[in-house]
Amino acid sequence: MGVLPYLKDIFLCCPCVDRTAALAHTWNVTTHVLRWLEPPDGPAVVLLDQTRLPAEEVYLTCRDVAALDDAIRRLAVRGAPMLGLAGAFGVALAAYRGDDVAAAAARLSRARPTAVNLSWGAGRALAVYEAARQATPDHAKRLAAQAALGEARSIAAADAAASAAIAAHGLALVPEQARILTHCNTGALVSAGEGTAFAIALAAHRTGRLARLWVDETRPLLQGARLTAYEAGKAGMSYAVLPDSAAASLMAAGRVDLVLTGADRVAADGSVANKVGTYALAVLARHHRVPFVVAAPVSTIDFTAADGAAITVEHRAGEEVTCFAGAAIAPAGSSAYNPAFDVTPAELVTALVTERGVVRPVSAGTLQYLGALPERQGTIGDVSVER
Ligand code: MRU
Repeated sequence: MGVLPYLKDIFLCCPCVDRTAALAHTWNVTTHVLRWLEPPDGPAVVLLDQTRLPAEEVYLTCRDVAALDDAIRRLAVRGAPMLGLAGAFGVALAAYRGDDVAAAAARLSRARPTAVNLSWGAGRALAVYEAARQATPDHAKRLAAQAALGEARSIAAADAAASAAIAAHGLALVPEQARILTHCNTGALVSAGEGTAFAIALAAHRTGRLARLWVDETRPLLQGARLTAYEAGKAGMSYAVLPDSAAASLMAAGRVDLVLTGADRVAADGSVANKVGTYALAVLARHHRVPFVVAAPVSTIDFTAADGAAITVEHRAGEEVTCFAGAAIAPAGSSAYNPAFDVTPAELVTALVTERGVVRPVSAGTLQYLGALPERQGTIGDVSVER
């Protein structure tokens, strides 16, 4: 099924961006991940259930915040930018239903603590809702719900534009005939556009610069093997899936030119929280003199988190490690250590690619400079922060 009707659901009615530009960035997106269902069929948030991929494309209709909260916790919808959309559309859903909107925003924000976009998206929609409630007290609830939905759509449109800008900026860092190693899943499944790190690899593929995408399987939930391979295959990219533990010997053999990952939260000092295993890749990349590049929208930078220690790392159920596809693989009663993310210090990050430009070196100073740059939604920026 084509994606465009659904993207229209997300993007039309967005007041603050150039709609044509936002849509133009998404023509080649071949999956749709989140859409808003208007009354009378809705209100609801319809999600592509990522837990069922790649075997089947099944949609989940979340008619209340409890259902959306559960979908987020189970990773039916996931990845930092997409969680921002889920948080914002979730707040709109609560508003349309007449629920306690502040409580809904708080509940959704708690669902996954590391990906800052989730609380950021919920918070933005809540702020717009509350401002509208104060401005129009008579029939405020309906108008305020529409305002929250407009904000969610605006976040989606800005994310699509950011994704395109990240791809354009990041492409400059990709050498000819590049063999790129990536971790977890950072493509159209996590974005209203084509993603972050994956969008750069896709741009390299389209311009003939990609020789091979190495896809870490990404234990324990296999976002790489299941989701990145699914997206790479659909795009016709040359790719191979490897066990996470094979990255070391692959780099030692000189078969990786660039490591490219996304981020769930970037602290003010440039520390990067991303899917567990990312830190190991950064250490390996430094040892083997391979550039380690992170791609993320500015919304993933949390200027209130001073450093990596200030980032809460989500710990998940031990069964995700001790079981595989529903069957136990460790002796009954085994305990497990299952952090969903790890934190890579800024000194190991060669560059951070954002929609506003490439930050290099990654440090508190360069990030502060980036944060102060004017927001330029819907355009590809020409800012390069290098000092
Ligand atoms: O636990 P997940 O699947 O939500 O983790 C996702 C990641 O770690 C991604 O790399 C990150 O969100 C960046 S998405 C552009």
